[in-house]
Amino acid sequence: MRASHLPTQLPDPAPTSFEISVLPNAKALAEAGAREFARAAGDALSDRGVFRVALAGGSTPRALYRRLAQAPYRRAIRWDRIRFFWGDERCVPPEHERSNYRMAREALLQPLRIPASQVFRMKGERQPAQAARSYEEVLRREFRGRPVKLDLVLLGLGGDGHTASLFPGTASLAEERRLAAANFVPKLSQWRLTLTYRAINATRRIVFLVSGAEKAAPSAKILKKQRGWQDLPASNIASRRGTLLWLLDEAAASKL
Ligand code: 6PG
Repeated sequence: MRASHLPTQLPDPAPTSFEISVLPNAKALAEAGAREFARAAGDALSDRGVFRVALAGGSTPRALYRRLAQAPYRRAIRWDRIRFFWGDERCVPPEHERSNYRMAREALLQPLRIPASQVFRMKGERQPAQAARSYEEVLRREFRGRPVKLDLVLLGLGGDGHTASLFPGTASLAEERRLAAANFVPKLSQWRLTLTYRAINATRRIVFLVSGAEKAAPSAKILKKQRGWQDLPASNIASRRGTLLWLLDEAAASKL
């Protein structure tokens, strides 16, 4: 499988290096994502005996989740030591077709028979501000008052440069204290629940999964620092003391 690793330096103030890996197609992207998941899980389990991951929503990660539920990952990963969180959620019930939780449950959690005790979904069915506050409590309780530091966060990229539910021009971009927020997205006329930059950028390993020609422009704008790149929310993702990897298929990387 061809992949090109181009170590890249982000600009100040958050000087952090990141890697870019380009895969031939969406199938190879899912395979590379599964390998990254397995590697991050192995590192976390050997260091701390537990692996805490925030899953991405949208459609791109579905192929990755399905891949993880198959051999060799199905047996190679200690699924009983993994605790599942989400990077964001739509404000809908868990059975709703737009629920990020439902997508992950169908593609990964159910096939692997992950018990509910290891699954911490954002409650999209609740009043948004209450759901965000209670998710913040879930995260703080998980870390027993120590700094919240997830092991892996998977992220997607929207055509407008959003990631998780951090959309351009929305209030949660400015949230510096909270770890989870309710974010109204005018262009969608929807409320969303999302981890904030504070929570995401504290993560040990952040991996973007980007697929398709419609992501070529925002990917190039961010990764090549083209005019206005810092207006795209995904450009402010930079692991403070961890690592950042962009996984793109060739269609999404076609303007790099
Ligand atoms: C969501 C996601 C969102 C997603 C991007 C890309 O809830 O929709 O969290 O940030 O990752 O919009 O979505 P696709 O993978 O469907 O292109």
